[in-house]
Amino acid sequence: MGDLSGKAALVTGAGRGIGAGIARRLARDGAQVICNYSRAAAEAEALAAEIGGEAFAVKADITDLAQIDTMFAEISRRIGHLDILVNNAGRGGSAPLAETTPEMFDAIFALNTRGTFFVTKAASSLLRDGGRIINISSTTTRVRMAGLATYAASKSAVEALTRNWAPEFAPRRITVNSVVPGIVDTDLIAYMSDERKARSVATVPLGRMGRPEDIADVVAFLASDDARWVTSHEIVASGGN
Ligand SMILES: NC(=O)c1ccc[n+]([C@@H]2O[C@H](COP(=O)([O-])OP(=O)(O)OC[C@H]3O[C@@H](n4cnc5c(N)ncnc54)[C@H](OP(=O)(O)O)[C@@H]3O)[C@@H](O)[C@H]2O)c1
Repeated sequence: MGDLSGKAALVTGAGRGIGAGIARRLARDGAQVICNYSRAAAEAEALAAEIGGEAFAVKADITDLAQIDTMFAEISRRIGHLDILVNNAGRGGSAPLAETTPEMFDAIFALNTRGTFFVTKAASSLLRDGGRIINISSTTTRVRMAGLATYAASKSAVEALTRNWAPEFAPRRITVNSVVPGIVDTDLIAYMSDERKARSVATVPLGRMGRPEDIADVVAFLASDDARWVTSHEIVASGGN
């Protein structure tokens, strides 16, 4: 795929799961990858050392605007620009309406939606012309599942931001797209029983659970020059459901 040499990429939530897969893939394509983490310090530092290419890890809880500012101050000081932003950090949360508290609702939106919003706002002035913004959504925006309404709504908002940011960034030839994963085998689904995972996999036409690299390869396409004419859209990577 694309040659990302000379490009700087920030991946939020890069210490674990899908974010780590994305960081590995973008580094393999030649990018300098900044691995954001909030708690997984050891994992993010080890990943940055593993992928090389002047990668480094930077801490920021992206629900906290002050920590977002500190992270961008460090990126500004160390590199001075960005070419690729991947808003990957996210959290799940499953509860029926009657059991969803204001705290649960706010925590999901604070990370998935508000975090994506304010990281992108802070990144905007650092992104060079021809850059890329790639937001990680979820197929819960499309399927109908009891208990997932709040999470799905937080990701539907991310897709709406994506579609409407695209024309705003277009004069700078910065594309804005969402990647929409189906179920992927990470810590995010650790709360599911084996039986529930098996039921979920049974709905996947390609017949298995997604892996971080299945999502990372789609992100790499959107980051590459091959995707220069793709903006304001969603690419679903779900094994067919
Ligand atoms: N797994 C799936 O089935 C699936 C399906 C569709 C979409 N997704 C989406 O894919 C993305 C990655 O999820 P995953 O499956 O890789 O989950 P995961 O393994 O649980 O990883 C979540 C990541 O988000 C980061 N994060 C959590 N809170 C944060 C905060 N306050 N500030 C900064 N980073 C924070 C974590 O970093 P720390 O550990 O450092 O806190 C971690 O790197 C999420 O947006 C998720 O909604 C996942």
